Amino acid sequence: MSGKTFGQAVVDVPSTSDGAGMWRLARDSRSLDLNSSYSYLLWCRDFAGTSAVIRVDDEVIGFVTGYLRPNQPDTLVIWQIAIAEAHRGRGFAATLLDNLVRRTGARHLEATVTSDNDASIAMFRALATRWGTGLTGNQLFSAEQFPDDHAPEFLFRIGPFLSGSAPSQTPRTRGEL
Ligand SMILES: CC(C)(COP(=O)(O)OP(=O)(O)OC[C@H]1O[C@@H](n2cnc3c(N)ncnc32)[C@H](O)[C@@H]1OP(=O)(O)O)[C@@H](O)C(=O)NCCC(=O)NCCS
Repeated sequence: MSGKTFGQAVVDVPSTSDGAGMWRLARDSRSLDLNSSYSYLLWCRDFAGTSAVIRVDDEVIGFVTGYLRPNQPDTLVIWQIAIAEAHRGRGFAATLLDNLVRRTGARHLEATVTSDNDASIAMFRALATRWGTGLTGNQLFSAEQFPDDHAPEFLFRIGPFLSGSAPSQTPRTRGEL
């Protein structure tokens, strides 16, 4: 195992063997858009450097996928993040995001949220607080822009991330696994 250990949990760079587990986590999250199983495999192959997984006993219990904006390569865009329901509330999402910001060296992070996702909004606000940096929000896509029944997406932009204000590398995981 090449990843960084947090208690019994290991944060790692995804490999294609994680793709199926990531698809299942997205499916079971009941709040993420479920993309094709193929897209998760392809993401693990081509965007592993801007993505992370967390495993317990070799099972993927959380993931974050992201990419650097082609026209703004200092900006890490978070595409999806999910933690298995049984493992929520222990700091795993925060650990994944901190790990990815450090690993990519991104100066800013962008993510979209829907207004009904309190957990997601709290998670990104907490990220800005941990790093002692700013967060701005604007509507990115209105409901009318989606061809199907989809809530508006609001863009959070967080940063700048400065290495001097990085949170402690101490495991943030809370409680027993
Ligand atoms: C959002 C999600 C990834 C959070 O994962 P998690 O591991 O439980 O989050 P963490 O324990 O790392 O918490 C990070 C911060 O968010 C806050 N938070 C997490 N869940 C919360 C909730 N349900 N309500 C309020 N705040 C919440 C935590 O309190 C923490 O902030 P703090 O450090 O100030 O206490 C998880 O709920 C999930 O998988 N949801 C379904 C998928 C989803 O909605 N993804 C986001 C789409 S953008």
